Amino acid sequence: MALVIAIDGPAAAGKGTLARKLAAHYGLPHLDTGLTYRATAKALLDAGKPLDDETIAAEMAGAIDLSALDRNVLSAHEIGEVASKVAAMPSVRTALVAAQRRFAETGKGAVLDGRDIGTVVCPDAPAKLYVTADAEVRARRRYDEIVARGGSADFETILQDVERRDARDMGRADSPLRPAADAHLLDTSKMGIEAAFQAALSYIDARLDRN
Ligand code: DC
Repeated sequence: MALVIAIDGPAAAGKGTLARKLAAHYGLPHLDTGLTYRATAKALLDAGKPLDDETIAAEMAGAIDLSALDRNVLSAHEIGEVASKVAAMPSVRTALVAAQRRFAETGKGAVLDGRDIGTVVCPDAPAKLYVTADAEVRARRRYDEIVARGGSADFETILQDVERRDARDMGRADSPLRPAADAHLLDTSKMGIEAAFQAALSYIDARLDRN
């Protein structure tokens, strides 16, 4: 069986860093699926299209090139906001999930991170992690990141933003953010990245022995 590692969880829980470390460790390609929603949002913004037209958004989603996704280009706050809105459109999700599945099914395996990998995109993945942390801890990490890059930020605004994004991701009708029944929960509130990585390795290696 291909080694597909599914990683889900809310924004700023540490999924991305963990996914990159696991991909390097197991020698697998990695897809940050949030970037596919962000790229769809950017395509709409760049083309000056209405942001609430599902047909146009789905067309844009169908044209996304997975090999050309760049977090630096797609990290802007406005793109994240629009991404969270297009992510609630079922036909956008259908187009992007199809591309994400093709990525997962090519080769000997892959690491995918997002919100619905273990529940919808790769329900048969042999290893599923649900990575979370308290909203305050996630907001603090995001704040520290911005300050470390020399930017300025307001902690309360970031916290409100994290909470609003959580509510939208968990509350939408299509593929809401939730742990798969068979996911391994990893709460990183009191855990550094190295400890989270070691915990993930123990879980994944035990799952591989069993399959
Ligand atoms: O993780 P992120 O901030 O880059 O994700 C951008 C938006 O896309 C966010 O609102 C959640 C959504 N998303 C999703 O609905 N499903 C995924 N598999 C990944 C991201």
